[in-house]
Amino acid sequence: MLAELLFTIAALQPRALAQSCPSLTASYPAPSVASGYEARLIAQGLTKPRGIIFDNKGNLLVVERGNGVSAFAVSGTGSCITLSEKKTVVGDGSLNHGIEITDDGKTLYVSSVETVFKYDYDSSSMTTKGQGKAIITGMTSNDLLTRTLLLSRKSKNKLVVSRGGNDNIDLSTVDINNGMSQIRIFDPTKDSQNYTAGTTLGWGLRNAVGVAENPKDGGVWSAENNADNIERDGFEIHENNPAEELNYHGKLDDSNNPLLGKNYGYPLCYGAWNITEIPSAGTLQIGQQFAIAENNATTQDSFCRNDRQAPRLVFQPHTSPLDLKFDGKGENLYVTLHGSWNRHDPVGYSVSVIKFGSDGQPTESSTSTKALSPIISNSNTSGCPGSCFRPAGLGWDRNGRLYMTSDSTGEIYVIVKAGGKALDDSRPAASAASSNSNALSGLLITVLACAFVWFL
Ligand SMILES: *[C@@H]1O[C@H](CO)[C@@H](O)[C@H](O)[C@H]1NC(C)=O
Ligand SMILES: *[C@@H]1O[C@H](CO)[C@@H](O)[C@H](O)[C@H]1NC(C)=O
Ligand SMILES: *[C@@H]1O[C@H](CO)[C@@H](O)[C@H](O)[C@H]1NC(C)=O
Ligand SMILES: *[C@@H]1O[C@H](CO)[C@@H](O)[C@H](O)[C@H]1NC(C)=O
Repeated sequence: MLAELLFTIAALQPRALAQSCPSLTASYPAPSVASGYEARLIAQGLTKPRGIIFDNKGNLLVVERGNGVSAFAVSGTGSCITLSEKKTVVGDGSLNHGIEITDDGKTLYVSSVETVFKYDYDSSSMTTKGQGKAIITGMTSNDLLTRTLLLSRKSKNKLVVSRGGNDNIDLSTVDINNGMSQIRIFDPTKDSQNYTAGTTLGWGLRNAVGVAENPKDGGVWSAENNADNIERDGFEIHENNPAEELNYHGKLDDSNNPLLGKNYGYPLCYGAWNITEIPSAGTLQIGQQFAIAENNATTQDSFCRNDRQAPRLVFQPHTSPLDLKFDGKGENLYVTLHGSWNRHDPVGYSVSVIKFGSDGQPTESSTSTKALSPIISNSNTSGCPGSCFRPAGLGWDRNGRLYMTSDSTGEIYVIVKAGGKALDDSRPAASAASSNSNALSGLLITVLACAFVWFL
Protein backbone atom coordinates (compact mmCIF):
# COMPACT_ATOMS: atom_id res chain seq x y z
CA MET A 1 0.00 0.00 0.00
CA LEU A 2 2.73 2.43 0.96
CA ALA A 3 4.81 1.34 -2.03
CA GLU A 4 1.79 1.82 -4.24
CA LEU A 5 1.19 5.29 -2.83
CA LEU A 6 4.82 6.32 -3.37
CA PHE A 7 4.68 4.99 -6.89
CA THR A 8 1.56 7.02 -7.55
CA ILE A 9 3.21 10.15 -6.16
CA ALA A 10 6.27 9.61 -8.32
CA ALA A 11 4.23 9.01 -11.43
CA LEU A 12 1.99 12.00 -10.91
CA GLN A 13 4.49 14.63 -9.87
CA PRO A 14 5.88 15.66 -13.25
CA ARG A 15 2.41 15.92 -14.74
CA ALA A 16 0.98 17.77 -11.77
CA LEU A 17 3.85 20.26 -11.88
CA ALA A 18 3.63 20.67 -15.61
CA GLN A 19 -0.02 21.61 -15.24
CA SER A 20 0.90 24.32 -12.73
CA CYS A 21 3.10 26.09 -15.28
CA PRO A 22 2.11 29.61 -16.25
CA SER A 23 1.26 29.69 -19.94
CA LEU A 24 1.72 33.21 -21.20
CA THR A 25 1.59 33.85 -24.91
CA ALA A 26 3.82 36.40 -26.57
CA SER A 27 2.55 38.71 -29.31
CA TYR A 28 5.38 37.53 -31.63
CA PRO A 29 6.31 34.05 -32.90
CA ALA A 30 7.57 31.66 -30.19
CA PRO A 31 11.35 32.04 -29.69
CA SER A 32 13.73 29.36 -30.93
CA VAL A 33 15.60 27.72 -28.10
CA ALA A 34 18.87 25.85 -28.66
CA SER A 35 18.86 22.13 -27.97
CA GLY A 36 19.64 21.28 -24.35
CA TYR A 37 17.92 24.41 -23.02
CA GLU A 38 14.42 25.39 -21.94
CA ALA A 39 13.06 28.94 -21.87
CA ARG A 40 9.68 30.13 -20.63
CA LEU A 41 7.88 33.46 -20.65
CA ILE A 42 6.97 34.12 -17.00
CA ALA A 43 5.89 37.77 -16.84
CA GLN A 44 4.27 40.39 -19.06
CA GLY A 45 3.03 43.94 -18.66
CA LEU A 46 6.15 45.45 -17.11
CA THR A 47 7.33 48.95 -18.05
CA LYS A 48 10.59 48.66 -20.04
CA PRO A 49 12.27 46.17 -17.67
CA ARG A 50 16.06 46.54 -17.79
CA GLY A 51 18.45 45.46 -14.99
CA ILE A 52 17.36 42.60 -12.71
CA ILE A 53 18.86 41.04 -9.60
CA PHE A 54 17.80 38.65 -6.83
CA ASP A 55 18.02 39.60 -3.16
CA ASN A 56 19.24 37.24 -0.42
CA LYS A 57 15.68 35.97 0.20
CA GLY A 58 15.21 35.00 -3.44
CA ASN A 59 12.97 37.94 -4.42
CA LEU A 60 13.38 39.37 -7.89
CA LEU A 61 14.16 43.09 -8.19
CA VAL A 62 13.71 44.73 -11.57
CA VAL A 63 14.32 48.24 -12.86
CA GLU A 64 11.25 49.33 -14.78
CA ARG A 65 12.54 52.27 -16.79
CA GLY A 66 10.40 55.31 -16.10
CA ASN A 67 8.85 53.78 -12.94
CA GLY A 68 11.66 52.73 -10.61
CA VAL A 69 12.46 49.42 -8.95
CA SER A 70 9.82 46.73 -8.42
CA ALA A 71 10.11 43.48 -6.47
CA PHE A 72 8.37 40.14 -6.92
CA ALA A 73 8.17 37.02 -4.80
CA VAL A 74 9.23 34.03 -6.88
CA SER A 75 7.82 30.51 -6.66
CA GLY A 76 7.80 27.37 -8.75
CA THR A 77 10.05 24.55 -9.90
CA GLY A 78 12.12 24.06 -13.03
CA SER A 79 11.00 26.66 -15.53
CA CYS A 80 7.46 26.76 -14.09
CA ILE A 81 8.03 30.05 -12.32
CA THR A 82 5.39 32.39 -10.97
CA LEU A 83 6.08 35.99 -9.97
CA SER A 84 3.69 37.43 -7.40
CA GLU A 85 3.23 40.07 -4.66
CA LYS A 86 4.57 42.88 -6.85
CA LYS A 87 5.80 45.83 -4.78
CA THR A 88 7.30 49.19 -5.63
CA VAL A 89 10.68 49.24 -3.91
CA VAL A 90 11.87 52.63 -5.22
CA GLY A 91 9.31 54.85 -6.96
CA ASP A 92 11.74 56.98 -8.95
CA GLY A 93 11.06 57.41 -12.65
CA SER A 94 14.61 58.57 -13.33
CA LEU A 95 16.04 55.10 -12.70
CA ASN A 96 16.73 53.52 -16.05
CA HIS A 97 19.01 50.46 -15.96
CA GLY A 98 21.69 49.82 -13.35
CA ILE A 99 21.01 47.74 -10.22
CA GLU A 100 23.23 46.00 -7.66
CA ILE A 101 22.70 44.57 -4.18
CA THR A 102 25.03 43.41 -1.44
CA ASP A 103 25.07 39.68 -0.69
CA ASP A 104 23.50 40.30 2.75
CA GLY A 105 20.54 41.94 0.98
CA LYS A 106 20.84 45.13 3.04
CA THR A 107 22.13 47.69 0.54
CA LEU A 108 20.66 48.40 -2.86
CA TYR A 109 22.39 50.47 -5.57
CA VAL A 110 20.51 51.92 -8.54
CA SER A 111 21.33 54.45 -11.23
CA SER A 112 19.81 57.27 -13.26
CA VAL A 113 21.51 59.19 -16.06
CA GLU A 114 22.91 61.63 -13.50
CA THR A 115 23.31 59.71 -10.25
CA VAL A 116 24.08 56.43 -8.48
CA PHE A 117 21.87 56.07 -5.40
CA LYS A 118 22.33 53.84 -2.37
CA TYR A 119 19.33 52.61 -0.36
CA ASP A 120 18.96 50.63 2.85
CA TYR A 121 16.89 47.63 1.85
CA ASP A 122 14.95 45.00 3.79
CA SER A 123 14.51 41.78 1.85
CA SER A 124 11.93 40.34 4.30
CA SER A 125 9.48 43.09 3.42
CA MET A 126 10.88 43.98 -0.05
CA THR A 127 11.08 47.63 0.99
CA THR A 128 13.67 50.38 1.26
CA LYS A 129 14.12 52.46 4.38
CA GLY A 130 14.45 56.23 4.10
CA GLN A 131 15.74 58.30 1.25
CA GLY A 132 18.31 57.18 -1.27
CA LYS A 133 21.78 58.66 -0.83
CA ALA A 134 23.44 60.10 -3.92
CA ILE A 135 26.86 58.43 -3.84
CA ILE A 136 28.03 59.27 -7.38
CA THR A 137 26.88 62.33 -9.34
CA GLY A 138 27.79 64.46 -12.33
CA MET A 139 26.93 61.92 -15.07
CA THR A 140 24.23 63.72 -17.06
CA SER A 141 24.32 63.46 -20.86
CA ASN A 142 21.88 63.53 -23.77
CA ASP A 143 22.76 60.21 -25.36
CA LEU A 144 23.90 56.73 -24.23
CA LEU A 145 22.05 57.00 -20.95
CA THR A 146 22.68 53.80 -19.00
CA ARG A 147 25.07 53.70 -16.03
CA THR A 148 25.79 50.03 -15.45
CA LEU A 149 26.71 49.05 -11.89
CA LEU A 150 28.93 46.15 -10.83
CA LEU A 151 29.63 45.54 -7.16
CA SER A 152 32.84 43.54 -6.91
CA ARG A 153 32.55 40.22 -5.05
CA LYS A 154 36.33 39.77 -5.07
CA SER A 155 37.47 43.15 -3.74
CA LYS A 156 35.84 44.83 -0.78
CA ASN A 157 34.06 48.18 -1.28
CA LYS A 158 34.51 48.53 -5.01
CA LEU A 159 31.62 49.65 -7.17
CA VAL A 160 32.33 49.77 -10.90
CA VAL A 161 30.27 52.26 -12.92
CA SER A 162 30.21 52.28 -16.72
CA ARG A 163 29.20 55.38 -18.64
CA GLY A 164 28.85 56.00 -22.39
CA GLY A 165 29.60 59.10 -24.42
CA ASN A 166 27.26 61.90 -25.42
CA ASP A 167 26.93 61.09 -29.12
CA ASN A 168 27.45 58.29 -31.64
CA ILE A 169 31.03 59.40 -32.31
CA ASP A 170 31.83 61.76 -29.44
CA LEU A 171 35.21 63.37 -30.11
CA SER A 172 35.20 65.04 -26.69
CA THR A 173 35.92 61.63 -25.16
CA VAL A 174 39.58 61.84 -26.29
CA ASP A 175 39.98 63.91 -23.10
CA ILE A 176 40.05 61.58 -20.10
CA ASN A 177 38.89 64.41 -17.85
CA ASN A 178 35.46 64.67 -19.47
CA GLY A 179 34.56 61.39 -17.75
CA MET A 180 32.62 59.93 -20.69
CA SER A 181 32.93 56.59 -22.47
CA GLN A 182 34.67 55.23 -19.40
CA ILE A 183 34.49 52.66 -16.64
CA ARG A 184 35.46 53.97 -13.21
CA ILE A 185 35.84 52.40 -9.78
CA PHE A 186 34.33 53.93 -6.62
CA ASP A 187 34.16 53.28 -2.89
CA PRO A 188 30.40 52.85 -2.38
CA THR A 189 30.63 53.71 1.32
CA LYS A 190 31.37 57.35 0.40
CA ASP A 191 28.74 59.96 -0.53
CA SER A 192 28.48 62.60 -3.26
CA GLN A 193 31.48 61.67 -5.37
CA ASN A 194 31.80 63.25 -8.79
CA TYR A 195 32.10 60.59 -11.52
CA THR A 196 35.44 62.09 -12.57
CA ALA A 197 36.79 61.44 -9.06
CA GLY A 198 36.61 57.67 -9.57
CA THR A 199 39.64 55.56 -10.51
CA THR A 200 39.66 54.97 -14.26
CA LEU A 201 39.54 51.24 -14.95
CA GLY A 202 39.27 51.74 -18.71
CA TRP A 203 38.41 54.51 -21.19
CA GLY A 204 37.91 54.92 -24.91
CA LEU A 205 34.88 52.63 -24.49
CA ARG A 206 32.01 54.03 -26.53
CA ASN A 207 29.19 52.49 -24.50
CA ALA A 208 30.25 49.50 -22.41
CA VAL A 209 26.80 48.55 -21.12
CA GLY A 210 27.69 45.02 -20.05
CA VAL A 211 30.17 44.69 -17.17
CA ALA A 212 30.92 41.48 -15.25
CA GLU A 213 33.46 40.00 -12.85
CA ASN A 214 34.63 36.43 -13.40
CA PRO A 215 33.99 34.60 -10.10
CA LYS A 216 36.86 32.24 -10.88
CA ASP A 217 39.67 34.79 -10.83
CA GLY A 218 38.12 38.26 -10.45
CA GLY A 219 38.80 39.31 -14.05
CA VAL A 220 36.54 42.19 -15.13
CA TRP A 221 35.01 42.15 -18.62
CA SER A 222 32.93 44.67 -20.49
CA ALA A 223 30.82 44.52 -23.65
CA GLU A 224 31.05 47.59 -25.84
CA ASN A 225 28.29 48.80 -28.13
CA ASN A 226 30.20 50.21 -31.04
CA ALA A 227 29.48 53.11 -33.39
CA ASP A 228 26.83 53.39 -36.10
CA ASN A 229 27.12 54.85 -39.60
CA ILE A 230 30.92 54.77 -39.75
CA GLU A 231 32.91 55.69 -42.87
CA ARG A 232 36.53 55.25 -43.83
CA ASP A 233 38.25 57.20 -46.61
CA GLY A 234 34.82 58.46 -47.61
CA PHE A 235 33.25 55.00 -47.95
CA GLU A 236 30.28 53.90 -45.89
CA ILE A 237 31.23 50.68 -44.15
CA HIS A 238 28.64 50.50 -41.38
CA GLU A 239 26.78 47.37 -42.51
CA ASN A 240 29.41 44.91 -41.24
CA ASN A 241 31.77 47.15 -39.23
CA PRO A 242 32.86 48.00 -36.62
CA ALA A 243 32.62 44.92 -34.42
CA GLU A 244 30.96 44.95 -31.03
CA GLU A 245 33.69 44.19 -28.51
CA LEU A 246 34.35 42.14 -25.40
CA ASN A 247 37.13 43.94 -23.55
CA TYR A 248 39.26 42.68 -20.69
CA HIS A 249 40.20 44.97 -17.80
CA GLY A 250 42.24 42.75 -15.47
CA LYS A 251 41.47 42.16 -11.79
CA LEU A 252 40.37 44.81 -9.31
CA ASP A 253 42.41 43.26 -6.49
CA ASP A 254 45.61 43.20 -8.59
CA SER A 255 47.68 46.15 -7.41
CA ASN A 256 49.83 45.80 -10.54
CA ASN A 257 46.95 45.39 -12.98
CA PRO A 258 48.65 46.16 -16.32
CA LEU A 259 45.27 47.03 -17.87
CA LEU A 260 44.25 49.62 -15.26
CA GLY A 261 43.56 52.93 -17.00
CA LYS A 262 44.09 51.60 -20.55
CA ASN A 263 42.44 53.28 -23.52
CA TYR A 264 40.40 50.92 -25.71
CA GLY A 265 40.33 53.08 -28.84
CA TYR A 266 37.06 54.99 -29.13
CA PRO A 267 36.49 57.49 -30.75
CA LEU A 268 39.61 57.07 -32.94
CA CYS A 269 39.92 53.28 -33.30
CA TYR A 270 37.38 50.52 -33.93
CA GLY A 271 37.46 46.73 -33.99
CA ALA A 272 37.37 45.12 -37.45
CA TRP A 273 34.74 42.52 -38.35
CA ASN A 274 34.51 42.32 -42.12
CA ILE A 275 37.96 43.06 -43.57
CA THR A 276 36.74 42.77 -47.19
CA GLU A 277 34.57 45.85 -46.77
CA ILE A 278 37.27 48.04 -45.18
CA PRO A 279 39.12 50.18 -47.78
CA SER A 280 42.94 49.95 -47.68
CA ALA A 281 42.73 47.24 -45.04
CA GLY A 282 46.31 46.11 -45.66
CA THR A 283 47.24 43.39 -43.19
CA LEU A 284 44.35 44.22 -40.85
CA GLN A 285 42.79 41.15 -39.20
CA ILE A 286 39.42 40.51 -37.60
CA GLY A 287 39.51 41.82 -34.04
CA GLN A 288 42.32 44.32 -34.63
CA GLN A 289 41.53 48.01 -34.42
CA PHE A 290 41.54 50.37 -37.38
CA ALA A 291 41.16 54.12 -37.76
CA ILE A 292 38.27 55.98 -39.33
CA ALA A 293 38.93 59.29 -41.10
CA GLU A 294 37.89 60.94 -44.33
CA ASN A 295 41.29 60.56 -45.98
CA ASN A 296 44.29 58.26 -45.57
CA ALA A 297 42.79 56.62 -42.50
CA THR A 298 45.22 53.78 -42.98
CA THR A 299 48.13 56.00 -41.86
CA GLN A 300 46.65 55.88 -38.34
CA ASP A 301 46.05 52.14 -38.25
CA SER A 302 49.42 51.45 -36.65
CA PHE A 303 48.55 53.89 -33.84
CA CYS A 304 45.29 51.99 -33.29
CA ARG A 305 47.15 48.70 -33.26
CA ASN A 306 50.06 49.70 -31.07
CA ASP A 307 48.78 52.43 -28.76
CA ARG A 308 45.27 51.28 -28.05
CA GLN A 309 44.04 48.19 -26.21
CA ALA A 310 42.47 45.67 -28.60
CA PRO A 311 39.27 43.77 -27.81
CA ARG A 312 39.64 40.23 -26.49
CA LEU A 313 36.68 39.07 -28.58
CA VAL A 314 34.57 40.62 -31.31
CA PHE A 315 30.89 40.10 -32.09
CA GLN A 316 28.84 40.83 -35.18
CA PRO A 317 28.32 44.59 -35.62
CA HIS A 318 25.07 46.09 -34.29
CA THR A 319 24.07 43.04 -32.21
CA SER A 320 24.14 45.43 -29.18
CA PRO A 321 25.43 43.42 -26.20
CA LEU A 322 23.77 44.80 -23.07
CA ASP A 323 24.21 42.59 -20.02
CA LEU A 324 26.94 40.11 -19.11
CA LYS A 325 26.58 37.47 -16.37
CA PHE A 326 29.06 34.68 -15.54
CA ASP A 327 28.03 31.35 -14.10
CA GLY A 328 29.45 30.46 -10.69
CA LYS A 329 32.47 28.57 -12.01
CA GLY A 330 33.39 31.20 -14.61
CA GLU A 331 32.95 28.70 -17.44
CA ASN A 332 30.13 30.44 -19.28
CA LEU A 333 29.49 34.13 -19.82
CA TYR A 334 25.90 34.86 -20.85
CA VAL A 335 25.12 37.95 -22.88
CA THR A 336 21.91 39.71 -23.93
CA LEU A 337 21.96 41.02 -27.50
CA HIS A 338 19.40 43.81 -27.74
CA GLY A 339 19.48 43.78 -31.55
CA SER A 340 20.34 45.99 -34.48
CA TRP A 341 18.78 48.95 -36.28
CA ASN A 342 21.77 50.23 -38.30
CA ARG A 343 21.95 47.42 -40.87
CA HIS A 344 19.72 45.90 -43.53
CA ASP A 345 19.01 42.49 -41.96
CA PRO A 346 18.30 42.52 -38.23
CA VAL A 347 20.91 40.71 -36.07
CA GLY A 348 21.25 40.05 -32.35
CA TYR A 349 17.84 39.75 -30.64
CA SER A 350 19.00 36.78 -28.58
CA VAL A 351 20.70 35.56 -25.44
CA SER A 352 24.00 33.88 -26.25
CA VAL A 353 26.80 32.21 -24.33
CA ILE A 354 30.57 32.68 -24.53
CA LYS A 355 32.77 29.81 -23.34
CA PHE A 356 35.57 30.55 -20.87
CA GLY A 357 38.52 28.29 -20.08
CA SER A 358 40.24 27.41 -16.81
CA ASP A 359 42.69 30.28 -17.43
CA GLY A 360 39.84 32.77 -16.95
CA GLN A 361 39.92 33.74 -20.65
CA PRO A 362 37.51 33.01 -23.52
CA THR A 363 38.27 29.78 -25.33
CA GLU A 364 37.85 31.45 -28.75
CA SER A 365 40.67 33.54 -30.19
CA SER A 366 40.46 37.30 -30.68
CA THR A 367 40.13 36.76 -34.45
CA SER A 368 37.15 34.40 -34.13
CA THR A 369 33.73 35.29 -35.50
CA LYS A 370 32.15 32.36 -33.63
CA ALA A 371 32.49 33.39 -30.00
CA LEU A 372 28.72 33.61 -29.44
CA SER A 373 26.43 30.57 -29.30
CA PRO A 374 22.75 31.54 -29.26
CA ILE A 375 20.51 30.01 -26.59
CA ILE A 376 17.21 31.81 -27.07
CA SER A 377 16.55 33.85 -30.20
CA ASN A 378 13.68 35.47 -32.04
CA SER A 379 12.54 32.91 -34.59
CA ASN A 380 11.61 35.47 -37.24
CA THR A 381 14.02 38.38 -37.11
CA SER A 382 12.58 39.97 -40.26
CA GLY A 383 9.87 41.37 -37.96
CA CYS A 384 12.44 42.96 -35.61
CA PRO A 385 12.47 45.27 -33.81
CA GLY A 386 8.67 45.63 -34.09
CA SER A 387 7.48 42.05 -33.49
CA CYS A 388 10.36 40.73 -31.41
CA PHE A 389 11.54 40.49 -27.84
CA ARG A 390 14.66 42.55 -27.11
CA PRO A 391 16.90 41.03 -24.43
CA ALA A 392 18.15 43.61 -21.90
CA GLY A 393 18.98 42.49 -18.33
CA LEU A 394 20.11 39.14 -16.91
CA GLY A 395 19.93 37.84 -13.35
CA TRP A 396 20.59 34.53 -11.54
CA ASP A 397 18.31 33.13 -8.89
CA ARG A 398 19.82 30.99 -6.14
CA ASN A 399 18.74 27.82 -7.94
CA GLY A 400 20.91 28.53 -10.96
CA ARG A 401 18.10 29.73 -13.23
CA LEU A 402 18.84 32.68 -15.49
CA TYR A 403 16.20 35.41 -15.93
CA MET A 404 16.10 37.75 -18.90
CA THR A 405 14.15 40.97 -19.33
CA SER A 406 12.88 42.21 -22.68
CA ASP A 407 12.39 45.96 -22.41
CA SER A 408 10.50 46.54 -25.67
CA THR A 409 7.83 43.93 -24.85
CA GLY A 410 7.75 44.39 -21.05
CA GLU A 411 8.49 40.72 -20.45
CA ILE A 412 10.62 38.39 -18.35
CA TYR A 413 11.82 34.95 -19.44
CA VAL A 414 13.45 32.22 -17.39
CA ILE A 415 16.15 30.04 -18.96
CA VAL A 416 17.14 26.60 -17.62
CA LYS A 417 18.65 23.40 -18.97
CA ALA A 418 16.34 20.92 -20.67
CA GLY A 419 14.11 19.09 -18.18
CA GLY A 420 13.95 22.13 -15.89
CA LYS A 421 17.49 21.62 -14.56
CA ALA A 422 19.68 24.46 -13.30
CA LEU A 423 21.52 26.37 -16.01
CA ASP A 424 24.25 27.03 -13.45
CA ASP A 425 24.64 23.90 -11.34
CA SER A 426 27.21 25.58 -9.09
CA ARG A 427 24.63 27.80 -7.39
CA PRO A 428 24.18 26.72 -3.75
CA ALA A 429 20.64 25.44 -3.99
CA ALA A 430 20.91 24.26 -7.57
CA SER A 431 20.55 20.53 -6.91
CA ALA A 432 17.11 21.08 -5.42
CA ALA A 433 16.16 23.32 -8.37
CA SER A 434 13.31 24.73 -6.36
CA SER A 435 13.06 27.36 -3.70
CA ASN A 436 11.62 26.69 -0.25
CA SER A 437 8.14 27.89 -0.93
CA ASN A 438 8.25 25.90 -4.17
CA ALA A 439 9.12 22.66 -2.45
CA LEU A 440 6.09 23.27 -0.26
CA SER A 441 3.71 23.98 -3.11
CA GLY A 442 5.13 20.98 -4.99
CA LEU A 443 4.29 18.81 -2.00
CA LEU A 444 0.82 20.29 -1.79
CA ILE A 445 0.18 19.56 -5.45
CA THR A 446 1.39 16.00 -4.97
CA VAL A 447 -0.90 15.48 -1.97
CA LEU A 448 -3.88 16.92 -3.85
CA ALA A 449 -3.05 14.80 -6.87
CA CYS A 450 -2.92 11.68 -4.69
CA ALA A 451 -6.26 12.50 -3.10
CA PHE A 452 -7.65 12.93 -6.58
CA VAL A 453 -6.32 9.56 -7.70
CA TRP A 454 -7.79 7.89 -4.62
CA PHE A 455 -11.21 9.10 -5.74
CA LEU A 456 -10.94 7.46 -9.15
C1 LIG B 1 32.17 66.95 -11.90
O1 LIG B 1 33.46 67.12 -12.47
C2 LIG B 1 33.42 67.70 -13.75
C3 LIG B 1 34.82 67.68 -14.35
O2 LIG B 1 35.79 67.38 -13.43
C4 LIG B 1 32.85 69.09 -13.66
O3 LIG B 1 32.79 69.68 -14.94
C5 LIG B 1 31.44 69.01 -13.07
O4 LIG B 1 30.93 70.31 -12.88
C6 LIG B 1 31.46 68.26 -11.76
N1 LIG B 1 30.08 68.05 -11.37
C7 LIG B 1 29.63 68.24 -10.13
C8 LIG B 1 28.18 67.96 -9.92
O5 LIG B 1 30.36 68.59 -9.24
C1 LIG C 1 31.81 40.58 -45.77
O1 LIG C 1 31.73 41.38 -46.89
C2 LIG C 1 31.59 40.66 -48.10
C3 LIG C 1 31.68 41.67 -49.23
O2 LIG C 1 30.67 42.63 -49.08
C4 LIG C 1 30.30 39.89 -48.06
O3 LIG C 1 30.16 39.13 -49.23
C5 LIG C 1 30.30 38.94 -46.86
O4 LIG C 1 29.06 38.32 -46.74
C6 LIG C 1 30.57 39.72 -45.60
N1 LIG C 1 30.73 38.79 -44.49
C7 LIG C 1 30.38 39.08 -43.24
C8 LIG C 1 30.61 38.01 -42.23
O5 LIG C 1 29.90 40.15 -42.90
C1 LIG D 1 46.99 61.28 -48.23
O1 LIG D 1 48.21 60.69 -48.62
C2 LIG D 1 48.70 61.16 -49.82
C3 LIG D 1 49.93 60.37 -50.24
O2 LIG D 1 50.77 60.17 -49.14
C4 LIG D 1 49.02 62.68 -49.69
O3 LIG D 1 49.48 63.22 -50.90
C5 LIG D 1 47.76 63.41 -49.25
O4 LIG D 1 48.06 64.76 -48.97
C6 LIG D 1 47.17 62.77 -47.99
N1 LIG D 1 45.89 63.42 -47.69
C7 LIG D 1 45.56 63.82 -46.48
C8 LIG D 1 44.24 64.51 -46.35
O5 LIG D 1 46.29 63.70 -45.52
C1 LIG E 1 8.28 36.93 -40.54
O1 LIG E 1 7.94 38.28 -40.24
C2 LIG E 1 7.65 39.03 -41.40
C3 LIG E 1 7.52 40.49 -40.99
O2 LIG E 1 6.71 40.62 -39.85
C4 LIG E 1 6.41 38.46 -42.07
O3 LIG E 1 6.10 39.20 -43.23
C5 LIG E 1 6.67 36.99 -42.44
O4 LIG E 1 5.50 36.43 -42.94
C6 LIG E 1 7.13 36.22 -41.23
N1 LIG E 1 7.57 34.89 -41.65
C7 LIG E 1 7.13 33.78 -41.11
C8 LIG E 1 7.71 32.51 -41.63
O5 LIG E 1 6.29 33.78 -40.22
